[in-house]
Amino acid sequence: SSAASDVYKRQPNIKETMSMKLVLFNLREDEKSALNNWIASHPEVEVDVHSEELTASNKHLLEGKDGVVLAQNKPFEKEVYEYAKEQGIKVFATRSAGFDIYDLELMKELDIKMTNVPSYSPNAIAEHVLTTALRISRNTNKIQRNVEKHNFTWNPGILSRELRTLTVGVIGTGRIGTQAAKLFKALGSKVLGYDIYPNDAAREVLEYVDNIDDLITNSDIITIHMPAIKDYNHMVNDEFLSKMKDNSILLNAARGMLVDTKALLRALDSGKLLGAGLDVYENEGKYVPKNFEDKEFDDELLQTLIDRDDVIYTPHTAFYTETAIQNLVEGGLEAAVEVIKTGTSANVVN
Ligand code: NAI
Repeated sequence: SSAASDVYKRQPNIKETMSMKLVLFNLREDEKSALNNWIASHPEVEVDVHSEELTASNKHLLEGKDGVVLAQNKPFEKEVYEYAKEQGIKVFATRSAGFDIYDLELMKELDIKMTNVPSYSPNAIAEHVLTTALRISRNTNKIQRNVEKHNFTWNPGILSRELRTLTVGVIGTGRIGTQAAKLFKALGSKVLGYDIYPNDAAREVLEYVDNIDDLITNSDIITIHMPAIKDYNHMVNDEFLSKMKDNSILLNAARGMLVDTKALLRALDSGKLLGAGLDVYENEGKYVPKNFEDKEFDDELLQTLIDRDDVIYTPHTAFYTETAIQNLVEGGLEAAVEVIKTGTSANVVN
């Protein structure tokens, strides 16, 4: 039959039909459906899947593979990189934007490429920030607590402002900051932006200020979307907060270290700020994303944030949407395949 002769004809081209072998670690429950869809549509790629972390004790799982796709929570030993090299591994592809826990220099020496997924859904974070801004500006926490006490009154404590009457200041107008600006703009807010590298895409939806103080003093809502840079540790401190408008809102879905939590609490206690939305917290590393329901929890500062009506704390969940997870899983796998096929990828970081 013609089908049989097709198979026969393809045989000499064995190199092309030979399957590529990947091994994937740290699989989480929420990634399974995206992973299975990708595997089903890539029959030429063989993927061994493990939920555990890669360590020296299970490094034998790398045997005979071409690439590793992972999302480690802890660094692994030097011998794992060396063993990977011996096995002919060409790439470590992380299903995340961050890659601080991998040894990039050693990988460079060993000529193993490291890839990341730099942008998986800026809109996920932007939507979360908008949600938090609305929850605070519409006093939803306060109204909820009143309702729980059967206090159904209208009173100045819950009198709200509409976003179209407010000015939003975006610090860091990259992928996420620009998308956040678009969403606020769509609801009628005036949007100001500050960035050390202004860009034209952002200029379409916001008005740049040259001086960060102009943004701080003129915004009703300030939202931070810049990277964590050492020099900017506690950028939002007593001085920054004292320049903010009365009754304004601070939102941080960037990195915890950018905000001095104790100074923020002072600004909230004094009545200077209406509220704060924090998706990140400076000491979150110990707790996020873990379940402390039945464990001792001794972070008084975080407990204070959790207990307050005027703070909305979320455990680094701004990114956590189906779209983002799908893009992370696919982005990791695609980058690994690209490096194996072509020797490089736009997402190589070393
Ligand atoms: P990006 O690199 O696209 O944009 C960052 C912007 O900040 C750039 O335009 C840069 O020029 C600007 N910038 C750098 N230093 C600055 C300074 N000193 N002052 C003002 N602007 C400055 O990054 P992207 O993807 O938009 O991410 C922004 C932040 O969001 C990062 O801190 C990232 O870690 C955080 N993030 C948080 C997530 C969450 O779930 N909460 C998820 C993903 C990212």
